Amino acid sequence: MKTATIKTIVKSLVIAGAILGSSAMADGGALYKKCAGCHGMSGEKVALGKSKIITDMSEIQLNDAMNGYKDGSYGGAMKGLMKAQLTKLSTEDISSLSTYIVGLKK
Ligand code: HEC
Repeated sequence: MKTATIKTIVKSLVIAGAILGSSAMADGGALYKKCAGCHGMSGEKVALGKSKIITDMSEIQLNDAMNGYKDGSYGGAMKGLMKAQLTKLSTEDISSLSTYIVGLKK
């Protein structure tokens, strides 16, 4: 094989990798790991004695609650804590989390 051909192949692999990497769906399960400490591995806990049991909520309620924490329109006494958990997450991340949490329900 000519060097030029190899270079072309390598280049297209790099581009393909970049496209796949950026379009990968947000993984709700991976994102949920940092929530489990307070909400429980199966979302079964009343976080810090304050939150609702999140698996009792519907996907829409979860979405609304999390987006609300993020923009400051939702929450109780400890909403600042949840805002800190969610500020770095995108709307897409939040909807992946909602889907994942609903799936935890037994
Ligand atoms: C340090 C503990 C802690 C962590 C970590 C945490 N939460 Fe929370 N979460 C709470 C508390 C406390 C509340 C209740 C806050 C309030 O006063 O509104 C809450 C509320 C919620 C609610 C709304 C339930 C309600 O009471 O209305 C959802 C949904 C939620 N958390 C999801 C998550 C997700 C998803 C993550 C991970 C990205 C996460 N939480 C991480 C402690 C935590």
